[in-house]
Parts: sequence; C-alpha cells; structure tokens
Amino acid sequence: MAKIKKAIDSLTVMTNIVLPNETNSLRNLFGGELLSKMDRCASISAARHCERRVVTASVNHVSFNHPIPEGGIVVLESKVSRAFSTSMEIYVDVWLDDPINQKKIHTNEGIYTFVAVDEFNRPIPIPQMEPETEEEQQRFDAALRRKELSLILSGRMKPADSVELKKLFGS
Ligand SMILES: CC(C)(COP(=O)(O)OP(=O)(O)OC[C@H]1O[C@@H](n2cnc3c(N)ncnc32)[C@H](O)[C@@H]1OP(=O)(O)O)[C@@H](O)C(=O)NCCC(=O)NCCS
Repeated sequence: MAKIKKAIDSLTVMTNIVLPNETNSLRNLFGGELLSKMDRCASISAARHCERRVVTASVNHVSFNHPIPEGGIVVLESKVSRAFSTSMEIYVDVWLDDPINQKKIHTNEGIYTFVAVDEFNRPIPIPQMEPETEEEQQRFDAALRRKELSLILSGRMKPADSVELKKLFGS
C-alpha cells in the first residue's frame, strides 16, 4: 500500500536572530534574506515528506506583512500542505518572537512548490499527505487551485484546461 504521511511529519522550525549584515537601509530584515531562509526551511519540509532529494519548482506567493527589526528573533515554521504526484506544496509561516514582552507576531507567509527528483534530476512519485487540523484541511483544499494558477502563470497549463480555477471564476 502506498505510504500516506501527515503534515506534522514534515514540520520544520528554524529560529534565527537578525544580524546587522542582514538588514536593509531601514535596519529591518532584508526581503531577500528572508526569502532564502524560507526556501531552506521549505526544502527541509519537502525532503522530510518525500525522503528524497528535492528542488524548488516555484515560489507561488510571498507576503511581507510586518517588518522584522535588527536583533529580532525570527521563527520560521514550514509543513507540506498538499502532495500531488511528484510535486508538493509547502506553506511557510514566519513569526517575530518577542520573549521580553511575550508577544508573537505573524509577519510573513510563503507558499512554495518542490519536486522530488532521482539521481538524474527526473521527477519521481512521492507519498500522499493527509491533513489533520482544520487549518491543514483548508490549505490542502486550496492547494490544487494554487497549483493550476502557478502552472498557468508559468505557461505550463492553458487556462481552458484548469478545473479548480474554472469552478472559482464560474466559466
Ligand atoms: C522542477 C523540475 C524538476 C520539473 O521538471 P519537469 O521535467 O518539467 O517535470 P514535470 O513537468 O513532470 O513537472 C513535475 C511536477 O512539478 C510540477 N511543476 C512544475 N513546474 C511547476 C510550477 N511552476 N508550479 C507548480 N507546479 C509545477 C508539475 O505540475 C509536476 O507536478 P505533479 O507531478 O505533482 O503533477 C525541473 O523544471 C527543474 O529541475 N527545474 C530546476 C529546479 C531548480 O534548480 N531549482 C532551484 C532553483 S535555484
């Protein structure tokens, strides 16, 4: 029987402090630094899920909602939100942790697509993922829509061939 995994199996948590050489002219974390950290965190989740080598296929969405200042403690949490045939969607949530005032602010989120590859860099099948929590179920349900959108934007799918997006836009 094919292996089925849980989102928690791929949970990856990375905690960092923002150093001066990682900041922009406003002394907040530089966006590209954060993207690099998010990609690393997501790639570990992807590898944990499929137990294979993985490559980033697409960065589908990144939002920067709140600046992260120099000296801030940044916590990245990533998990597989849905597995397809050879590709998987990974959700990365970023938090600014303030242990002194005991506050945690959700500053960013990013949605990545990774593909499992063999030794010749050819895509290979991966285990399916079964959501458990309400949030995991919501992210799982919306993932096919995002996959279709990403494939359309990258020229890999014709809009007319989409199923989920047509349902959403009613045509
Ligand atoms: C990603 C890669 C392995 C895909 O290879 P490919 O021969 O095009 O393979 P396929 O067309 O069969 O796609 C493989 C899977 O990726 C998915 N995929 C590919 N591009 C995608 C995109 N832009 N958005 C969402 N999914 C994508 C496909 O839908 C397919 O998913 P499925 O099998 O789960 O249905 C290949 O393009 C590659 O090696 N890219 C470079 C990756 C890399 O170097 N990343 C680091 C960047 S510095």
